Order: sequence, then C-alpha cells, then structure tokens
Amino acid sequence: MAKSKVKFICQSCGYESAKWMGKCPGCGEWNTMTEEVLKQATPRRAVFAHSTQTVQKPSPITKIETTQEPRIYTNMKEFNRVLGSGIVKGSLVLIGGDPGIGKSTLLLQVSSQLADNHHDVLYISGEESVKQTKLRADRLGVKSDKLLVLSETDLSFISKAIEETQPSFVVVDSIQTVFHSEISSAPGSVSQVRESTAELMRIAKTKGIAVFIVGHVTKEGSIAGPRLLEHMVDTVLYFEGERHHTYRILRAVKNRFGSTNEMGIFEMKEVGLEEVQNPSEIFLEERSKGASGSTVVASMEGTRPVLVEIQALISPTSFGNPRRMATGIDHNRVPLLMAVLEKRVGLLLQNQDAYLKVAGGVKLDEPAIDLAVAVSIASSFKDAPPKPTDVIIGEVGLTGEVRRVSRIEQRVTEAAKLGFKRAIIPEANIGGWNAPKDIEIVGVKNVAEALYKTLGG
Ligand SMILES: Nc1ncnc2c1ncn2[C@@H]1O[C@H](COP(=O)(O)OP(=O)(O)OP(=O)(O)O)[C@@H](O)[C@H]1O
Ligand SMILES: [Mg+2]
Repeated sequence: MAKSKVKFICQSCGYESAKWMGKCPGCGEWNTMTEEVLKQATPRRAVFAHSTQTVQKPSPITKIETTQEPRIYTNMKEFNRVLGSGIVKGSLVLIGGDPGIGKSTLLLQVSSQLADNHHDVLYISGEESVKQTKLRADRLGVKSDKLLVLSETDLSFISKAIEETQPSFVVVDSIQTVFHSEISSAPGSVSQVRESTAELMRIAKTKGIAVFIVGHVTKEGSIAGPRLLEHMVDTVLYFEGERHHTYRILRAVKNRFGSTNEMGIFEMKEVGLEEVQNPSEIFLEERSKGASGSTVVASMEGTRPVLVEIQALISPTSFGNPRRMATGIDHNRVPLLMAVLEKRVGLLLQNQDAYLKVAGGVKLDEPAIDLAVAVSIASSFKDAPPKPTDVIIGEVGLTGEVRRVSRIEQRVTEAAKLGFKRAIIPEANIGGWNAPKDIEIVGVKNVAEALYKTLGG
C-alpha cells in the first residue's frame, strides 16, 4: 500500500512545507498554502520518458547523429512562425491567456486545419461539453471527420482515448480541469497540474504526438500554478489582447524548437481568428501621426520587446509651481530628464507644465525609455513632430550622454517587424549584432545629437 503524506504547497510558486503558513516563504504571497495529499510512493520514474529506455553511455557530441524534427504545418502562417515554423511532433506546448481571449477558438481552428490536411486530431475539452464545442465548430466552419472531440477530465480516460485513437495532434483544454485519480487534491491544484502535465509529457514523447495544453492565467498574468509548469513543457505561448480591441497577439515566451522573438497577430471575427498580415498598421493606427510630443520606444517587458508610444504635453504654467505629471513612467524621471534638457540642451522648461503618458495604459520602468521621453518632451516644447516611423531607444545620463541599453538586437528587430524605418539608438550599441535589413540604424552620443537627428535644427 502506498503511504500518503500531507503537505502544504504554495499555489502560486510551488513552495512545499510540512506545516501551514499564512505567508509563503518562497514568493511572499499570503494565503496561498493549501493542503495537498501526496502519494509517497508515486512512481516518479515513470514520469520521464527516458526511464523506460535502456541505459545509455555518454558519447562525444560530434558523433551524435541529428535529424530534423518532423514538423506539422497549419494553414496559419502566423501560428507556424510563432512555433518556429510549424508544430514539432512529440512536443508539449502550453498556451496561456486571459479568460475569453480565444484560446479554445484558436486551438479548435488549428485542429480543424490539421484535420483538413489529413492528420488525426483529438480535441479534449474539460471545460465544455461536446455540444458546446460543436456549436463553436459550426461557427468556425469545421468540416473534417478526422477531428475527434471528447469531453473528459479524468487523465486515465484521456490517456486511454489517446491510446485508442492514435492521433498525431492532441489538444487538452484546459490543464486546470484535468485530474489524476491517484492524487486526492482538487483539479487545478499544484500537484494535480504537475502530475497531469508530466503524464501528458510522457505520452507526447513516447508516442511522438504533438500535445497542446491550455493553461489559465492568474490575476497577475502568469500561467496559474507554479512556474514549474513552464519549465516542464517544450514551448510556452501567451495569447493576449486588449479587452476593447479585436486584435490578439500570440507570443512564444519559451521555445525549445525556435526563437522566442516571434509574434503572431490575429483578429477575432465571427468566423474565428483571422491572421493579420500587416501588424505595424494596428500599432500605428491609434497614433496621430506627425503629432508633436509623440514618440515610439521599443521597451523590454521581461524578455519580450514591446513597442509603445510615449506622449508628452508641455504647456506654459499659468500660476504657481509648474506641474510634472506622469502616467506609466516613474514620475521621478520626468523632472530629471527635464533638468538634463534644460542644462545640457538649453531648453527653458522651468516655467512649463509637463504631462507624460504611456499610451495604452502600459507601465514602463526601464532606463532604456529615457531618450524617447526626452525627445517627446522636447518635441512638444518646440512643437516639432518627430517622424512617425522613428523608434527611439536609449538611457540618458546626467551629463546628457546617451548610454548603452541591453538587448538592442531584439528591440530593433521588433521595431523593424512592426514597420519602423529608422532606429535612433545609443552610439555604444552600434556593431556586434545583426541589424535587420529594412531599418536604418542611427547611433547618437548625447541628447542634443538625438534631438538634432529626430526633430531637426
Ligand atoms: N459570434 C461571435 N462573433 C465574434 N466573436 C465571438 C463570437 N462568439 C465568441 N466570440 C469571441 O470568442 C471569444 C471566446 O473565445 P474562446 O471561448 O475561444 O476563449 P477562451 O480563451 O477559450 O475562453 P475560456 O478562458 O473561457 O476558455 C469571446 O471573447 C469573443 O471575443
Ligand atoms: Mg476555452
């Protein structure tokens, strides 16, 4: 008889403890420790695909034969690209995203396309009945008989269904609803999610099936459950979008078979998701082109580059002390950058009110946005609009020098991808990386030079 053991596991970071605690020592969150009963004698070895193989000897790396991973292609170019040109057989992919963003829609569409291309597909939904899935399928125009649908949450039945149908592509929607009957804790808890993922990983690796699992995200925007889940799978995709827009962005945050710099843009329509061929337009759409005080910066959000518009409004102070207001930027940086502009460039800003805003409600907290903020302020003050196809990147020092920033290649590549024609970057960042072809790179040493290059005169 397997002995069971009670443990308290933090539902947000996976920290384990023998006793309950109000605050998790791992991540500092309150009220996240939950009691979970673990089977002491869980056959953990079976979790890993390699354990069933014979013992292998270490061999020199030059002697190892490589084969191209076989890939399955969908009709959606954006989707293939995000995965690093197609779905790798035997890979486990996790898709996370806000509720209602369209995860099920995307995966049902992909399933349908693969079925149309003569692949056997098994779509397992733990959240919706087969009828609900059918309703969506009707809306999306799914026709193929090769797409099998199952509404199931018990992992042992799911494995059995996969065993019987031998599909080449499996979707599990969502991992939080799946449960392993040997584990007594509730579906969605850390041990359930972990063990279920491990089992799906085993199935994917041993049978060479591409398995896609949907993961819900927490309030903070990370995939629910411990980060451990992201470490286990081969690829992690995020499907995101603005609540008030129909555009959706699919990004890879981790990919063992390709780059993580890719992103795919879709538009949610009545008939499902449609690829957006020209993403730069969407991002520039809401900008009033040629407006003074508006610049675009390529900022890093964790490991992802994002292009954001920074707006400044500078107007004469009517009474009292000049106001300095900033939304989305550290408000201490605004007076600092204004002082640099005043002292090093000679702009008389002391009797001006300054309002700074990052468009779209994004929060930026890295120094690489300094130069774009400074150019925005100067642009509004002089009423000289910068070119709408410029992207401005750089940290500004107190002597007015423009300092080197990290990950310049990623930032510029993202800007080029979104259709920007010129990147104003720190001189120190020039060279040593591969600049994309269709964007002009201009290096600047100090703020005065940056203003001259962007606003002229
Ligand atoms: N008739 C329709 N026309 C246009 N868009 C629709 C229609 N019906 C649903 N949608 C869109 O599909 C979205 C729901 O998609 P879907 O169910 O795939 O999301 P999900 O991410 O799987 O959600 P959940 O987290 O609930 O599983 C809705 O938010 C809506 O934008
Ligand atoms: Mg869904």
